[in-house]
Amino acid sequence: MPFMSKVKLAVLISGGGTNLQAIIDAIAQKKINAEIVCVGSNKPDAYGLERAKKAGIATFFLNYKEAKESFQQEDAWLSYFNEREQATNLSPNNSPFRRMNQEELTSRIIAEKLLLEKLAQFKVDFLVCAGFMKLLTPFFMEQFQPDPLKPRIINIHPALLPAFPGTDGYGDAYSYGTKVHGATVHFVDYGVDSGPIIDQSCYRRLSNESEDSFKSRGLELEWELYVKCLKLLCEKRLKIFRNSSKRIIVEEMPKRKFNPH
Ligand code: GAR
Repeated sequence: MPFMSKVKLAVLISGGGTNLQAIIDAIAQKKINAEIVCVGSNKPDAYGLERAKKAGIATFFLNYKEAKESFQQEDAWLSYFNEREQATNLSPNNSPFRRMNQEELTSRIIAEKLLLEKLAQFKVDFLVCAGFMKLLTPFFMEQFQPDPLKPRIINIHPALLPAFPGTDGYGDAYSYGTKVHGATVHFVDYGVDSGPIIDQSCYRRLSNESEDSFKSRGLELEWELYVKCLKLLCEKRLKIFRNSSKRIIVEEMPKRKFNPH
């Protein structure tokens, strides 16, 4: 295989970080040609941060709460980010950013400024959301991935999108009674769980299956799916284009044979 420099990933988490662990392990086993340069969390006590530290990865805390307090104290922020209209225009009709008030939106942007600094500091190529439970604002998206055909933010969602977007994919599907469920890895766009799908994995609900079992079987599928998708991404094997309906589509490209001549 020709020498390819390692892709630099930053991972965002909010919880246990089992997906993060799967990625750390896959990189250690050289299944993904990447390095995780930093891991951030909006929860200072997220166990995923411990996993990162154990692997010798730099960590940081995205303090949304402090951002909100600093917004309340400093009127200057009001004028600095007095561009709610812009966020509204960029967001699809059903986006929560359209309903968010100035204070909430601006606080998020303040927290995201730290994130942008970290991504620049570590020269990050791709931002990997692995159980990160905050939506990234249009301001952040504009700065980190201005070209929708060159997406740089990836997410894993615990449902077969576009079914069951939102914060509780397993719980929603379980109570709905779906017989087939799964997970989706996708690029992030301005909507909620609406970005271009990279790949999906599915499983059947067992008869009389408990919600815990339904979730944990799904989570195990996620680990394999995320590793597979990140491998393709880091090998530059994802073709991204607009189809005739103007929707952005992702297709896997075959592995290129190395020809030294
Ligand atoms: C995973 O199930 C992931 O798909 C989900 O959070 C869990 C994180 O688990 N993400 C979302 O719901 C995003 N909307 P982990 O911390 O053990 O990787």
